Amino acid sequence: MTVFRDPIALQEALKGLQGSIALVPTMGALHLGHRTLMEQARQDNDIVVVSIFVNPTQFLEGEDLENYPRKEEADRRICELSGVDYLFYPDATVMYGHDEVHICAPDIRAYVLEGLLRPGHFDGVLTVVLKLFHIVMPDRAYFGKKDAQQLALIEQMLRNFFLQISIVAVDTVRENDGLALSSRNVYLSDAQRQEALKISSALNHAGKMIAQGVRNTEEIIQQMQQIMAPLEVEYIACVNRAFQYLEHIEMGNSIILVAARVGTTRLIDNVQL
Ligand code: PAF
Repeated sequence: MTVFRDPIALQEALKGLQGSIALVPTMGALHLGHRTLMEQARQDNDIVVVSIFVNPTQFLEGEDLENYPRKEEADRRICELSGVDYLFYPDATVMYGHDEVHICAPDIRAYVLEGLLRPGHFDGVLTVVLKLFHIVMPDRAYFGKKDAQQLALIEQMLRNFFLQISIVAVDTVRENDGLALSSRNVYLSDAQRQEALKISSALNHAGKMIAQGVRNTEEIIQQMQQIMAPLEVEYIACVNRAFQYLEHIEMGNSIILVAARVGTTRLIDNVQL
C-alpha cells in the first residue's frame, strides 16, 4: 500500500493505470463498517483507493472537529489488511485554499433533517466529496447507508454535474445487539452505550409494526418516541427517497430516520423500507 498526502502526486500515480478504480472516502477512526466498504471495493475493482480526511468544512461551530477520533497508525494497518492499494491522507492545507469555489447543497433535500439541524454541513460534505472525486476519478465510490441523506445528496450531485461515477451503497454494519457502528461510538460510556440501543430498538419496532401492516407514519413515530423517550431525540421522520415527509409508508420508497443525543454524543440511524 502506498500512502499519499499530496493530491497531485496521487493523481500522477493513478494516471494511466489499467483497470477499474474504487474510492472509499472516510474520515478515519476506521471500524468494521469501513472495512466492509473496503472489502466490497476490493471485490469489485482492480485498484482500491481509501481517503482519510477529517473534513473541517462539514463540521459546524461547536461540533466535535477538534475531538473527532484520529487513529493514524491503526487506520493505516486496517487499510493494509483490507488490501487497499493507495491511502490518501491529506491535511486541510492541501485540500483547501483561501476564498475557494465551493458547492452549495440543494435547497430542498439538504435543508430537512440533518441539514436543518446542521445548516451548511452538506455544503462541506459535497465540496470535499467532489474534490476527492476529481482527484481520484474513480469508476465506483463506496458509502454506507447509515448516512442516508448524505448518500442521496451525493447521488444527486453526480446527476446534476453529469459525473460518471457509480455509487455503491453498503448496508449499515451493526454490533450483535443492534447498535449501528459509528466512529463516534467511542465517546459513549458503558451506560450510555446501553441507552443508545434504544435507537435501533425503536427502528426494529417500527419494522415490526410495518410487517404487521401498519402504514400510518404518525402512529409509528409515536411508538418510536415512547421507546426513545429517555434520549434527547432530535428527529424521528418517515420520508420517501426524495426526502419528502410521508403520511403513509410507501413500501420500496420509504426511509425512517432518527437522530438522538446520548449524553453529548449525537447518533443517527435509519431503516430503509
Ligand atoms: O461519511 C463520511 O465519513 C464523510 O462525510 C465523508 C463522506 C468521508 C466526507 O467527508
